[in-house]
Amino acid sequence: MTAAQVLKRSRMFVNFHRLKTRQIQQLMMTCFALSVVMVYWQSLDSDLVSHIKSYSLRHLLTNLDFITANLTISREEAQKFSNHRYLINQEGKCADKDVLLLLFVKSSPQNFEMRQAIRSTWGNEAYIEKTLGVTVKVVFALGFPPQPLQRKKLQRELFQEDQRYHDLIQQDFLDTFHNLTIKLLLQLGWTHAYCPHARFFMSADDDIFVHLPNLIHYLQEVDRAGVKDFWVGKVHQGSPPVRDKDSKYYVSEEMYPWLMYPDYTPGSGYVLSKDLVSKVYQASLTLNASLYIDDVFMGICANAVGVLPQEHVFFSGEGRAPYHRCIYRQMMTSHGHVKDFHELWKQATDPEVQKVYSGAFGRLYCTLAKIPLLCKPFFTNTYPCKAAFL
Ligand SMILES: *[C@@H]1O[C@H](CO)[C@@H](O)[C@H](O)[C@H]1NC(C)=O
Ligand SMILES: *[C@@H]1O[C@H](CO)[C@@H](O)[C@H](O)[C@H]1NC(C)=O
Ligand SMILES: *[C@@H]1O[C@H](CO)[C@@H](O)[C@H](O)[C@H]1NC(C)=O
Repeated sequence: MTAAQVLKRSRMFVNFHRLKTRQIQQLMMTCFALSVVMVYWQSLDSDLVSHIKSYSLRHLLTNLDFITANLTISREEAQKFSNHRYLINQEGKCADKDVLLLLFVKSSPQNFEMRQAIRSTWGNEAYIEKTLGVTVKVVFALGFPPQPLQRKKLQRELFQEDQRYHDLIQQDFLDTFHNLTIKLLLQLGWTHAYCPHARFFMSADDDIFVHLPNLIHYLQEVDRAGVKDFWVGKVHQGSPPVRDKDSKYYVSEEMYPWLMYPDYTPGSGYVLSKDLVSKVYQASLTLNASLYIDDVFMGICANAVGVLPQEHVFFSGEGRAPYHRCIYRQMMTSHGHVKDFHELWKQATDPEVQKVYSGAFGRLYCTLAKIPLLCKPFFTNTYPCKAAFL
């Protein structure tokens, strides 16, 4: 071989080698891109999957009137679910007041600490009245203490608590998980009897944080727009009943024979307009309320009057919001709080928070800050990724 030939060969080899390197690089890039896509695909809240599922089911079944037809019973029979006696009542709580929001907190007799935390933070009616100039009524819905040994003592303490705060509403059904639908009937019945003029009704768990200033501003807008049949929260679409007997949410075929629940908003926190609460209450008077999942039962009542919920991305459902000022600016509800009510309330209502991030630059900053918080793969239990871009 001449020197020239050697050179040529080695150039070819280099070229070949280069080609191979480039191909390998390309292959690796493709693999990387694919894995990124796949990770994000999964993390699209498995939202995509559940949406495809529910869309197909929901399009097959656009009309769920058969549920209403099957669960309709006579008024007399339905009354058996709701004719519980009041042990503690607040008949005059709403009287003669222009109430923007009646907020029911589903509490339990022994949860005194939680009620105190709520009273001194987001459930502080006086603070809301003073800073926002609107009337909000916060009341706690309770049943009878189920613990036989502590019953007397707990009930005595409840009477004392009521003397002091005048915000407990209690009926004589046992306060248990499986009586939550009865607690919903208490809320609907009480609203109908004592506070039908409240513009909005909210039902909430006692371990959620409600950003009342944000919620009030939002509801004022909705009110000005004169919206009817308004129902907002996080929306569960086409959810199947849980058939696993070990689950807390187990529902038998006998109780609910169908594959899919009507759309509903998780009971951790949702809001209805006045006109709709009244319709839902009327519907509940002729429905079989033995289904003990209260938020699903609410969905069944709304389905009976032909109303669907609308999604608001800053209602968290079962999820807990990430701690960040850019989140506080927009949050409505966040679930799973106990010890941090005070800190969160202080931070979330700090006027600086609204001010600092309200300009164009602040918004851009917040979008960039929210993306890693909300669009993380495998992180589904909070506000959806799209909330980062709002
Ligand atoms: C409701 O559906 C169940 C199961 O399909 C059936 O056994 C029952 O007879 C129905 N009830 C009414 C009132 O239609
Ligand atoms: C619901 O409350 C009623 C009335 O107190 C009681 O008889 C029933 O056992 C309770 N149900 C459950 C599942 O706790
Ligand atoms: C309500 O539904 C339950 C099944 O969940 C059934 O056992 C009961 O008989 C029904 N009540 C009436 C009054 O039809």
